[in-house]
Amino acid sequence: MTDKLIIDFAPVSAATEPSVVAIVGEELALGAHGRELDAKSGGALIKAARAGDFSGRAKTSLELLAPAKLDMSRLVLLGAGRTGEASELDWTNLGGTAVALAAQRKARSASIIVDVADTGDLDGAAIGALLAYGARLRHYNFDKYLTKKNGGGDGEGNGDKDKAERDGLQRLVVHCASPDKAKAAYQRHEAVAQGVHIARDLVNEPANMLGPVEFAERVKELERVGVEVEILDMEQLAALKMGCLLAVGQGSVRPSRVCVMMWHGAKSKRAKPVAIVGKGVVFDTGGISIKPAQGMEDMKGDMGGAACVTGLMYALAARKANVNAVGLIGCVENMPSGSATRPGDIVASMSGQTVEILNTDAEGRLVLADVLWYAQERFKPKLVIDLATLTGAIMVALGKEYAGLYSNDEKLAAELIDASKATGEKVWRMPLDKAYDKLIDSKTADMKNIGGRWAGACTAAQFLQRFIKDTPWAHIDLAGTAMASEPSELNRSWGSGWGVRLLDRMIAEKHEKG
Ligand code: BES
Ligand code: MN
Ligand code: ZN
Repeated sequence: MTDKLIIDFAPVSAATEPSVVAIVGEELALGAHGRELDAKSGGALIKAARAGDFSGRAKTSLELLAPAKLDMSRLVLLGAGRTGEASELDWTNLGGTAVALAAQRKARSASIIVDVADTGDLDGAAIGALLAYGARLRHYNFDKYLTKKNGGGDGEGNGDKDKAERDGLQRLVVHCASPDKAKAAYQRHEAVAQGVHIARDLVNEPANMLGPVEFAERVKELERVGVEVEILDMEQLAALKMGCLLAVGQGSVRPSRVCVMMWHGAKSKRAKPVAIVGKGVVFDTGGISIKPAQGMEDMKGDMGGAACVTGLMYALAARKANVNAVGLIGCVENMPSGSATRPGDIVASMSGQTVEILNTDAEGRLVLADVLWYAQERFKPKLVIDLATLTGAIMVALGKEYAGLYSNDEKLAAELIDASKATGEKVWRMPLDKAYDKLIDSKTADMKNIGGRWAGACTAAQFLQRFIKDTPWAHIDLAGTAMASEPSELNRSWGSGWGVRLLDRMIAEKHEKG
């Protein structure tokens, strides 16, 4: 959704908006401005905090309505805990909480003041930028299909009664040290947050609205920020002999597409790119191996990997990342029909290897097999990372907290784990092992597309590895984290936009230097 929230920065001394969220450290260790406010109110702030048993502990808050002698309609004190120890992620999360506190109170405009005694290693400008980042990430509603009259509402805009309320907060001013510096530092965060919103929009969009062709049109919009986009149509996919990918789409009346996004940001045009590949199954019925009706609607989100790649490419371009990056997504619809692939069919992949499709619901790996191969053939990347809502089995293993990480390269795995810790988009390393290979060997083709009952996420990864040359490679199974995600400080929407921040961080930290 086009986010209409305007975020601005101002000095601490001049809280301007009628609603104010003041961030307060543990033990009420206020900064100079906080003490000043307290003095102005005749000590009422500290008194109210004591009366309300509010001491600034993390995740606590206290609201003061029309505080005496202060020029504001409400003041919400938000506990930040031990601010001297707060990480970048902690500050980002606080920004999310702060904006939600303002929005839930139906404020049209609000100030966030950060004026704490101890800011640890981060300077005030960096903290202001991170608070704004968190606010931007949280301030998201997928409400384009809500018309005027709607019951319910979650107090944060989704489904609220009238449009004016739904639009909610219009303006947010972050009051921090060195506001100009904070504003400059925020620009890159803003780019990433927009990338996350793009990914969420794509995941939230129902499949009747977002087929492979429509997805490709969305990708085309990235040209606006300088991404070079190429869309491969059915004829081109057939010429490339992407037999696995085409087998998945052939039951649908909607033609398949592969989208190629190129960002040439490195100083050297020749520098090998990083390649990011995404599974873009716009809807996964399972095909002839059809899924049960219960919960099938969630399969509109089976393009969470492709959404992440699209959002990431936007972010890299919008913040002018010093890297060459290519994003490739395979967009198909997996439907049962008279033209659909049958269990038992044997198809040839672009790599030449043949696959016996024993279960048409194990379709993601077929799509990725061809797109991964194409990415390596064409771009000779320095590394390739794929993201896919690939298996229910990864959710059995890791739940909705962690995505599964598989990699043939220790360094790449470590880079991703580092970025995962910094962003809170958690990954857990899972094993690749030759021993899994025998579970996917087939008597009649080079491999089959399902293993047995056990280790379903691992046999899926092992299948993908058969399409990796000697490139450093990582596979991220985000079936548990891309959609129907746990509500967090940074997101309440069904689609999470998971992975954009992780990969942006990993690229920024490890592949943009020099
Ligand atoms: N898209 C699903 C995996 C999935 C399940 C993602 C639930 C998100 C939520 C994938 O295509 C699939 O159907 N996988 C099968 C593989 C099986 C047939 C080997 C699965 O996990 O059951
Ligand atoms: Mn499936
Ligand atoms: Zn699927």
